[in-house]
Amino acid sequence: MARLTLPTDVNFMGNVFGGVILEDIDRVAYITATRHSGLNAVTASFDRVDFEKPVHVGQVLDFDAHLTFVGRSSMEVAIEVRAEALMGGPKYRVARAWVTMVAVDPAGHPVPVRPLALRSGAERKEFEAGRQRMDERRRHFRPRGRRSRASSSEKNMGAKHAV
Ligand SMILES: CC(C)(COP(=O)(O)OP(=O)(O)OC[C@H]1O[C@@H](n2cnc3c(N)ncnc32)[C@H](O)[C@@H]1OP(=O)(O)O)[C@@H](O)C(=O)NCCC(=O)NCCS
Repeated sequence: MARLTLPTDVNFMGNVFGGVILEDIDRVAYITATRHSGLNAVTASFDRVDFEKPVHVGQVLDFDAHLTFVGRSSMEVAIEVRAEALMGGPKYRVARAWVTMVAVDPAGHPVPVRPLALRSGAERKEFEAGRQRMDERRRHFRPRGRRSRASSSEKNMGAKHAV
């Protein structure tokens, strides 16, 4: 997917807001996961995203996405974002992200997806790295059944940091 950056995407220095790029990453991850599963999907998590170089207004952003790991209902999408001048020229990487999407039924409940076909040693290696990242994520997110009750710190966040 390619996107032309516009004056509405940038700060007063002409640099694109990180949030604009994150939104596009989310959309690209959604498309990738939905195409694989043939089902609706929700964003379960974003790994840390580093913005390596600034993007200036008028540059074209290119989003390159592929699935690296598929669990039962979860799908890890790796996305690399590159920038180049509108008229062409060298492309350079500005960000890289791993996004976990989860396939859901119309009620929003996770549903199984077809496995990822691994065709090469490189893909198998990437899948294994994805599995390890997923194991690491599972160490951090809350167990099933505890999501509906907001913790007291979450309730406080809404009250104290509303803007
Ligand atoms: C993601 C969501 C569907 C998971 O539902 P759940 O009832 O916790 O389901 P489970 O615990 O059975 O987990 C389902 C899968 O999601 C994965 N998962 C759950 N939370 C996750 C997280 N924070 N990060 C990565 N993966 C996660 C689980 O590992 C599991 O993967 P698997 O099926 O491949 O083994 C649910 O938390 C949700 O709807 N979240 C809101 C999503 C959303 O609206 N996003 C847009 C921004 S608001």
